[in-house]
Amino acid sequence: MEIIRTISWMKETVRQARAENHVGGFIPTMGALHEGHLSLIRRARVDCSRVYASIFLNPAQFGPNEDLSKYPRTFERDVEQLTDAGVDVLFAPEANEIYPQGFHTYVNVEGLSERLEGRSRPGHFRGVSTVVLKLFEIVQPQFAYFGRKDAQQVRILQQMAIDLNLNVEIVVCPIVREGDGLALSSRNTYLNSEERRAASVLQHALDEARRELNAGTRDALQLQTAIGKVLSKETLARVDYVEIVDAESFQPVSSIGARPVYALLAVFIGKTRLIDNLFIAPAAGQNVPVSSL
Ligand code: PAF
Repeated sequence: MEIIRTISWMKETVRQARAENHVGGFIPTMGALHEGHLSLIRRARVDCSRVYASIFLNPAQFGPNEDLSKYPRTFERDVEQLTDAGVDVLFAPEANEIYPQGFHTYVNVEGLSERLEGRSRPGHFRGVSTVVLKLFEIVQPQFAYFGRKDAQQVRILQQMAIDLNLNVEIVVCPIVREGDGLALSSRNTYLNSEERRAASVLQHALDEARRELNAGTRDALQLQTAIGKVLSKETLARVDYVEIVDAESFQPVSSIGARPVYALLAVFIGKTRLIDNLFIAPAAGQNVPVSSL
């Protein structure tokens, strides 16, 4: 695997690959890689003849109260994992390569960026959209791969791609989970053993939502209450939000019908904030909602 640090070198590498008619797939990351990232790479390996990954711990998406300096940094191990997974080129720029002095341009996907994660983490999505647009511009991928765990992020990036006429297809991949159902996240490493045990309550709450749906519940408030009840039983858990939203607008819905929706959770376990979700879409040809990963 080739490791590239500068934008000019990366652009030249991509230009050559495109001249050779390679199909480029891209997995942007902030490092601290886990099986979730590796599943995206494996998917890209199937679809594309050239797989690019990036590791860039993006300061613009961290708020003043979020500790960027504590974010796990595991570069050497990440490089080994990316090499084993078959990545062709890793783009790993320094912060001043992406945000040189005098940098003034930011991208904001209005409406979708303000609620839920955007309300709890002001400025977060502005930082994500800006860096992802820059990375797309540098890597010029035909396909870019994101996990469904960050459902709002994916939706915002899809909207950005539509609004700015980007020539990239955003591919949404399933959430990868631990044995007890906890969604993989770089932030799981912050949990001590007691908190790690408690964190499985997110999955239990989503399991309860699935049971309610299978029993015929279509009322969003009823579903939300059932999720909240399970979460409230875990003393280490503090709910930031539980919402049932339309999967396109991310606005709350009152009932579950023919349109896809998400049950979204953000929960503090101790000081660590975890998110998870259940995607609920009508089964093909039926009007019955089923949940999927
Ligand atoms: O999901 C992430 O890891 C980050 O938000 C991303 C997309 C790599 C942008 O920094």
